[in-house]
Amino acid sequence: MITEESVREVIDTARVEDVVGDFVNLRRRGNNYSGLCPFHNEKTPSFNVNPARNIYKCFGCGVGGDPVKFLMELEQLSFPDAIRWIARKYNIKLEEKEVSQEVREELQEKESLIITNDFARSFYADQLFNTEEGKSVGLSYFRSRGFRKEVLETFDLGFAPDDRDKLRKAAIAAGHKEEQLEKLGLVRNGRDFFRDRVMFTIHNLGGKPIAFAGRILKKDAKAPKYVNSPESEIYHKSDVLYGMYQARQAVRKEDRMYMVEGYTDVISLHQNGIRNVVATSGTSLTDGQAALVKRFTDNVTLLYDGDKAGVKAALRGVDVLLTSDLNVRVVLLPDGHDPDSYLQAVGATAFSDYLISASKDFLYFKADLLLEEAGDDVSRRTKAIRDIGATLALVEDPLKRAGYLQQFSGRLGIEESLLVNLVNTAIADRRTQSRKTREREERKAQRDRKKTSGPSAPPAPNEDDAWEGLVEPGWVSGTADDNPDPGNLPETDAPLAKQTPAPILGHGFQEKYLLHLLVRDGHKLYDDSSSTSIATYLTTNVADLLGDFDSDAYRELLQTVIAYLKNHQSAPAPDWYSNHEDIRWKELSVDAVATPYTYSPNWREKYGLHLSQKMPEENHRLTAEIFLRIFRMEKIERKCRQNAALVARYEKEGNFSKLKTHLKVQMKLDEMRLDLARALGTVVLSR
Ligand code: CTP
Ligand code: MN
Repeated sequence: MITEESVREVIDTARVEDVVGDFVNLRRRGNNYSGLCPFHNEKTPSFNVNPARNIYKCFGCGVGGDPVKFLMELEQLSFPDAIRWIARKYNIKLEEKEVSQEVREELQEKESLIITNDFARSFYADQLFNTEEGKSVGLSYFRSRGFRKEVLETFDLGFAPDDRDKLRKAAIAAGHKEEQLEKLGLVRNGRDFFRDRVMFTIHNLGGKPIAFAGRILKKDAKAPKYVNSPESEIYHKSDVLYGMYQARQAVRKEDRMYMVEGYTDVISLHQNGIRNVVATSGTSLTDGQAALVKRFTDNVTLLYDGDKAGVKAALRGVDVLLTSDLNVRVVLLPDGHDPDSYLQAVGATAFSDYLISASKDFLYFKADLLLEEAGDDVSRRTKAIRDIGATLALVEDPLKRAGYLQQFSGRLGIEESLLVNLVNTAIADRRTQSRKTREREERKAQRDRKKTSGPSAPPAPNEDDAWEGLVEPGWVSGTADDNPDPGNLPETDAPLAKQTPAPILGHGFQEKYLLHLLVRDGHKLYDDSSSTSIATYLTTNVADLLGDFDSDAYRELLQTVIAYLKNHQSAPAPDWYSNHEDIRWKELSVDAVATPYTYSPNWREKYGLHLSQKMPEENHRLTAEIFLRIFRMEKIERKCRQNAALVARYEKEGNFSKLKTHLKVQMKLDEMRLDLARALGTVVLSR
């Protein structure tokens, strides 16, 4: 059984346009989307999706509901299965009850910690509102900051009295365990940890209190302004953004999240109608926090103080957001102001206007800043441009990156190709770095494991096995030209070539090169730690593409290697090919030795610097990986073009069941393409 909290989290996370978008091709119409209804046959779209209300509705057949209902109806899933489906989509870890004893105990432990924290929350609130000390010290402080009663309640603000152990005594009297109080950091060495401070409650996504922060009221140079709960089983600081619970609906509605530094900034903005706001709590952003943002929106605006420290803060930690593929904007506030103080100074309307007028795309913000600092100094300018290149390299989406590149070359006044090189170098560096880290980790894991347990499956650069399901029987049958088998197309129509304007090159060269790689490197080990050979690696990862080979001969030859691998422990050695009775293998092995390691000139142009380094002869593993990715990419791109032509045709003919199938195929292909492009780090993608 999935816990209530998990279900709640899933429902709060699911975005109707995302979930529906996995099945229906949606087009934006103002604030909403529309598309062809998947529940009934129609030619003009009457199916509507409303992201603000998180619902869908078909004005043709009348169906409607939330994302969970959509899945239950369309995919005929049970409620828990729909929840599981969404959880997978958003990478939400579901908590399931009725598992092992151990897990159950852990869950109970967490629940009981939350219950104790909840006691503390109500204690602090009670102190604030119902005691003389609380009212005169805490409440009047909050009042002086302009916080009204509603936000005090919405954010569970409170007051910790100046007392040795008032909370501890009350908690124990109410049946809470001292051990738990210690674990939660509420009590230390028998004394209350938070004393004489106004209290901020930190909630999880379900609105439960998982931690506290206390702000000092006295001007005491020695004591820290804020003290915070320690990490605990229920509080992992690096995965939490303050105010997320209160902001989540507004974030979804506005499709944007404002990020500020301070607790009080969140509360102040919220009170003034800007509710899509969270606080980083003055530290650098983590991957966990970026992932949290990503579940609600792709758009982030950082709101920082305009002074040097604020600018530094804005620059710090943004890398994390960029690598998570978020669109980041920055608003710098006039010098000396934080969001709260600026809002108080100019009022809500002017403040909202300012957010819009002063907001800058982060990359432009950084570029302007660096260039301004560099001035006319050539070497500093060069360094600035290099820096900008490195930041651009963090933009994961190749299409988005290409867009930036174009704009930046104009802005920086340098050739686009130069910038592309710069960025590609930075990407390559980053990849090398992360590969090294990964390898180090793998080696460590191996040492830890000690015993090796049989050969591991070759890692697939694209573990998508949906390919087969995508191919309609007989659709692409490995013909020598690039047009889909005409037998599958309605005869009534004009030749397809007319609908695919770009000239399409055959893949014969690439297929041949694959065989060269097999002959030359196939017997080498893909991975020293397992018995996987390069041949196994290559053949496993092109098996799903056999139907798309242009050359029947190359396909057939490849199949003989696949058959060999099935029946032997190790891959064929070079002399197996050169002594093969099939004369074509002999020819190929002569050919392979005579041909220097090189990529198709066509590829080099297209995949840029990625290939312009020398072919890494000594590194057969890298060669195979790069080759394989491009090989797959080429096939997938071609399939995209073929499928797009079919989509256009079926749309024109009004054949909606076919159209639906091919739109699904299109989405899947686009996804695969993007994944591969990401893995390749290609900057420019042609379609
Ligand atoms: N912070 C902290 N510990 C400190 C200082 C700051 O955890 N000793 C975190 C808090 O999350 C705080 C944020 O950093 O909200 C920003 O700090 P600051 O700007 O100093 O505080 P404000 O939230 O603006 O508080 P106030 O307006 O009450 O001064
Ligand atoms: Mn402040």
